[in-house]
Amino acid sequence: MNQTETQHTIQQLLTLGKGILAADESTPSITKRFTSLGLVSAPELNKQYREMLFTTPEVEKYISGVILFEESLKQGLGEILKSKNILIGIKVDQGLESFNDTDEQITKGLEELSLHLDAYKAFGASFTKWRAVYKISDIYPSDSLIEESLSRMADYAKIVQSKGMIPIIEPEVLLDGNHTNTRCEEITTKILKRLFEILYQKEVDLSTIILKSSMVIPGKESGVIVMPLEVSNSTLRTLQNSVPSKVPQVVFLSGGQTPDQATFNLNEIAKLNSGKKFGPWDLSFSFGRALQEEAMKEWNGKQENIKSAQKIFIDRLQKVSRARQGEL
Ligand code: 13P
Repeated sequence: MNQTETQHTIQQLLTLGKGILAADESTPSITKRFTSLGLVSAPELNKQYREMLFTTPEVEKYISGVILFEESLKQGLGEILKSKNILIGIKVDQGLESFNDTDEQITKGLEELSLHLDAYKAFGASFTKWRAVYKISDIYPSDSLIEESLSRMADYAKIVQSKGMIPIIEPEVLLDGNHTNTRCEEITTKILKRLFEILYQKEVDLSTIILKSSMVIPGKESGVIVMPLEVSNSTLRTLQNSVPSKVPQVVFLSGGQTPDQATFNLNEIAKLNSGKKFGPWDLSFSFGRALQEEAMKEWNGKQENIKSAQKIFIDRLQKVSRARQGEL
């Protein structure tokens, strides 16, 4: 893929009204989601479930790209996406490992990345995702974790760009914990600022990355509920203070918010930045759970529920697409 093709990929991902579906749950993650419904995850059932999502009529009106897990790519699910002109993305990190024998976790997967990318490209993938997680507590995240994990993330982005693919960079500040909104803003800002310093040092081309960010919200165990206007103010202020204008797009993960919370928060963020007051980036969604949760529950592993689950899925997508434009 040459420079023009990379630009073409990014332009397509940025299409107005569309976003990116995260359907790249790793084996442990999809197992957890299925178990909560009394289902047993296995490659064939995972395939049936994801096929149900991707074959939903008119899904291509709201989705420009889907992030897949390697299993799905090898099962040929990318072909359905190709037939709908939806771009194929792939999760390329290999999950988390313990960081220096502490309670913190760091993302692994750089070793064979280059080889894997060649294989993924052969399957038609044009963009990739690497996720790092940061848990907030009184002592975490540690500076040493932030340094090491962001350095790996920048190395990932550099390798992906050298293959002519688009890297999605996802530093997720976890919703778990009892931290305040202010502390979430402080930590997210610190991580993003440092991220862009390191990306700059390692000469990553900022014009062909996508930042996938968490929204700024208080910890789930804090019991504090903040209104969308407050979430949008603190989230946009955080981006304004840390994300260079050269970055074309910021997409949000849902991170365990309910589908409605994530949708209304996105709507308020889009509205508040409608005059590009906080920054020029295109703002969109790359939700996993907030797009899938309701449809997965309705499907419940049964063939006869496919149509009703697809209806629920497309209704949520329509809402999120309108939220991305601040139209709810
Ligand atoms: P959630 O929207 O469920 O947080 O998933 C997004 C994602 O890609 C996590 O890596």
